[in-house]
Amino acid sequence: MQSIAEQDLGTPERHAQQQVTLQVDGCEVTVPAGTSVMRAAALADRGIPKLCATDQLEAFGSCRMCLVQIEGMKGYPASCTTPVAQGMRVTTQNPQLAQLRRGVMELYISDHPLDCLTCPANGHCELQDMAGAVGLREVRYGYEGANHLDAPKDESNPYFTFDASKCIVCSRCVRACDEQQGTLALTIAGRGFDSSVAASQGQSFMDSECVSCGACVQACPTATLSEKSLIEKGQAERSVVTTCAYCGVGCSFRAEMRGEELIRMVPNKDGHANHGHSCVKGRFAIGYATHPDRIVKPMIRATISEPWREVSWEEAIAHAAGELRRIQGKYGRDSIGGITSSRCSNEETYLVQKLVRAGFGNNNVDTCARVCHSPTGYGLKQTLGESAGTQTFDSVMDADVIMVIGANPTDAHPVFASQMKRRLRQGARLIVADPRRIDLVRTPHIEAAHHLQLRPGTNVALVNSLAHVIVTEGLVKEDFVRERCEVESFDKWRAFVAEPRNSPEAMEAVTGVPAATLRAAARLYATGGNGAIYYGLGVTEHSQGSTMVMGIANLAMATGNVGRSGVGVNPLRGQNNVQGSCDMGSFPHEFPGYRHVADEAVRRQFEQSWGVKLLDEPGLRIPNMFEAALDGEFKALYIQGEDIAQSDPNTQHVTAALSAMECIIVQDLFLNESAKFAHVFLPGCSFLEKDGTFTNAERRISPVRRVMRPKSGYADWEVTQLLARALGMKMDYSHPSEIMDEIAALTPTFTGVSFARLEELGSIQWPCNDAAPTGTPFMHVGSFVRGKGRFLVTEYVPTDEKVNARYPLILTTGRILSQYNVGAQTRRTPNVQWHAEDRLEIHPHDAEERGIRQDDWVGVQSRAGETVLRAEITPRVQPGVVYTTFHFPELGVNVITTENSDWATNCPEYKVTAVQVTRVTQPSEWQRRYREFDQRQQELLQAAAHAGAAPALAGSGAE
Ligand code: SF4
Ligand code: SF4
Ligand code: SF4
Ligand code: FES
Repeated sequence: MQSIAEQDLGTPERHAQQQVTLQVDGCEVTVPAGTSVMRAAALADRGIPKLCATDQLEAFGSCRMCLVQIEGMKGYPASCTTPVAQGMRVTTQNPQLAQLRRGVMELYISDHPLDCLTCPANGHCELQDMAGAVGLREVRYGYEGANHLDAPKDESNPYFTFDASKCIVCSRCVRACDEQQGTLALTIAGRGFDSSVAASQGQSFMDSECVSCGACVQACPTATLSEKSLIEKGQAERSVVTTCAYCGVGCSFRAEMRGEELIRMVPNKDGHANHGHSCVKGRFAIGYATHPDRIVKPMIRATISEPWREVSWEEAIAHAAGELRRIQGKYGRDSIGGITSSRCSNEETYLVQKLVRAGFGNNNVDTCARVCHSPTGYGLKQTLGESAGTQTFDSVMDADVIMVIGANPTDAHPVFASQMKRRLRQGARLIVADPRRIDLVRTPHIEAAHHLQLRPGTNVALVNSLAHVIVTEGLVKEDFVRERCEVESFDKWRAFVAEPRNSPEAMEAVTGVPAATLRAAARLYATGGNGAIYYGLGVTEHSQGSTMVMGIANLAMATGNVGRSGVGVNPLRGQNNVQGSCDMGSFPHEFPGYRHVADEAVRRQFEQSWGVKLLDEPGLRIPNMFEAALDGEFKALYIQGEDIAQSDPNTQHVTAALSAMECIIVQDLFLNESAKFAHVFLPGCSFLEKDGTFTNAERRISPVRRVMRPKSGYADWEVTQLLARALGMKMDYSHPSEIMDEIAALTPTFTGVSFARLEELGSIQWPCNDAAPTGTPFMHVGSFVRGKGRFLVTEYVPTDEKVNARYPLILTTGRILSQYNVGAQTRRTPNVQWHAEDRLEIHPHDAEERGIRQDDWVGVQSRAGETVLRAEITPRVQPGVVYTTFHFPELGVNVITTENSDWATNCPEYKVTAVQVTRVTQPSEWQRRYREFDQRQQELLQAAAHAGAAPALAGSGAE
């Protein structure tokens, strides 16, 4: 169904040099060649009735509602499938056309329930609109004959319903699933009167291949496919454009509201990152925002074994500030710090780092990007000169060869994956480098040309081998390198990768990738046209994460694949605002805009603006904070929107560090794992409750708009401001737009960014300044940000995490579509119906050797700890490798991950842990302790609820 504010022009936009002028009902209109008559007419304000056409999908021409007359043409062609021609004269309405359309509509209506008044689509139904538009006044055929009025409903999907009795078999849903989503889960089964929509092989939606992206629901012109929330709550009365708070794709949505109640999220057709598409998380998994587990009152306690006490905001803030000052007085200035979150907005993140630097008086601020993409920031800055991806998502449509390294876009970046799949179906070639057979390797109508199924931990060996082939087989783009790069660095790198020890043959024993396959992949990337690399945490979360990022940049530069559409180096960021949290100066050594704290000119600028003296020494990184806490030197931590007790490696080490501190202040929606160790809880806001901006993986700054009041009374930035004031800082923002103004004034890449500009442009890719007033879709065009591109030698150094007889398997971790990160949000939605627990994927050979059967409980032991989960036997993983996700705290996957980390950035080596796997019958010791601790903490929370007002949302509907 259409959302309230979007106009549908009937068929997709065409881009062509040649323009064509025609007349529609006497009005002249000029459009690009290839445009349909229907779209041209709509642009000339002549709406032609339609049912099977929509501008999100290619025309199909099945309903015959859109007939027109064209001078010189026989009969009545369908305007949706007829392209415009120069000088064409089109008539959209006359008595014959009206009669024909009424006849078609009469047939539709004669097999459609006439329950319009109680239908969820009433008032927004295209069938109803078209019946009105064609002037249907009577239906001459009764209901006596065969019809579909008793066709059954499919209610299996938790978010939408399929009511076959209302289906007009227009095929829009089928085409949406094919063209937009690329899952191809739907077909039209049967013929003629018996034709009907079928999911997979006639299964229910829930049992089919459907991934619940909602594209079919969006496309359906009737109420056949409808959101359950719409059916239950009725239609919205207003909509607000905002940005998804889940992954780094940054999809734009219209939040459709009635009063303070969210009716549904509708993907925004004008969204620059998603163009009207969505995934199950952003589209449907929003019930967490009003979940009864939300804590909306501030709480404090003296120790973590005491019950929480609900207090006023004033008392909570005064207590938190008092504790911070007390601890600094006792243990010194550097004994406290803060952690910003990639789930929070740019403005919130900026304020937290400002509070730490200017209010705490040290640089002890870090962010969760430390544990995901910090190597991206470092590696790309060193080689290309800017800590960010080089392209727009749309650039993939110009790629000829797509190389996906250590990323699983269909699960972790689903909307971008759909776009990538569209390009692959058009013929682009695909190389996948991943230890696991991810969906992209083979999916409907797509097959990777090469799957480089390397052993976890051997990325650098692989990239060096790829480079070896390019260099030794004369595939380097010499002119690009000579003109754009530091030649000396290139020569050094060329000599290094050309060494025989880096050849695919020499490295085969290390990577496990057959040399011939690797050679073929290298040739394809270097010679197949525009080559684009997309990578994820499978690249960064290694002891050589930064080296691998540099290796990727080397590869792109050597082949001339930088600086235009269709190419580039593209880190796929996990969380919604990873890019932004890094941009905003969350790292201890950098001010906003990636400028070192030791840079005196930059520091002076911030000192002048903030009115305080700032330190020129980097502060503590998260792992250093833990070490210092265990050494008794670091005593207090302010954590905004992050759950380090679940997401950071070696859980027992993390919780020991948290337990050693005297004051932990957690600002969050729920009592997360870290909050169980906290002394002050400051209720946070969901993205629906605040204004601000997120920056996605394309460097795209998009607006987040408040659609409902903050449940706790304050937006997150206001809470930070209250804390800052209580600490004696002067902070007087009255709106996040003023924070952005300050960011823009202090950060050269943001100079042109403001809320007003975002309102005007919709979104902006930084750098946005005088040189690029509307933003920068492609980086490094003409020259690199650092001037000349720098090649760096990337010596392969095997990780210290070795397999041996005791720990013979390698555990690697990843994500799944329906859950998000630590799962705090998605676990509180019906998404658990797809993924209710984390499981251990194990190859049939490894399972058989250990006597493990499907669904058995298995213990996974590493040098750091042990946990227990159920086995999933699958050839998706190679022998010797096991895999799991990390969305459920009780699984405790990070109990087994180690503290090994990237040499440059300390990003943990989540992707390589040597383990043993055995059949077990009971939970691990850690899990038993976890359950007891969790239960105790829930009781202490309940005590607060009973002592004062309940922490649950008064009157909130649990979704
Ligand atoms: S379910 Fe909707 S979109 Fe699909 S064929 Fe039926 S009416 Fe058309
Ligand atoms: S929800 Fe998405 S995946 Fe499922 S059938 Fe509809 S379009 Fe296909
Ligand atoms: S792809 Fe990412 S940003 Fe888009 S709707 Fe899904 S979770 Fe949200
Ligand atoms: S809208 Fe053109 S044939 Fe259906």
